Amino acid sequence: MDQELLKEAREVLKHAYVKYSNFRVGAAIRLKDGSIISGANIENASYGLTNCAERSALFAAYSQGYKKEDIVEMVLTTEQDHLVSPCGACRQVMRELMPADINVSMVYNNEVKTVKNRELLPLAFTEDDL
Ligand code: THU
Repeated sequence: MDQELLKEAREVLKHAYVKYSNFRVGAAIRLKDGSIISGANIENASYGLTNCAERSALFAAYSQGYKKEDIVEMVLTTEQDHLVSPCGACRQVMRELMPADINVSMVYNNEVKTVKNRELLPLAFTEDDL
């Protein structure tokens, strides 16, 4: 796992807007050009409008002009002492916006669980189905 990504994911936790859950999540993405883009979860009084950290980071990357093939790795972290893995909505978005074969690492305490993006969403419905 890319340690710099972990550092950024931990750093961005402080920008999480978690007024309702107080559950901070940070995500960081490595791009092929070497840059890193991070995102935190941003909540809303209309709870369903919350944007998870994974989607915040991905939407920021695309907003800066990066595309699927530019993304090489994602790291997620929280302040929890147990494994937190991406929600279903994020898995769907991650599958479409990042290559299926990149590593996604989830970090808690000093433990790391790494899986391939494709493993997060078996039998995925994708743009190829349309
Ligand atoms: N959340 C994320 O940002 N990413 C995840 O992988 C799981 C959940 C956020 C959404 C909400 O702000 C808070 O965590 C509690 O659900």
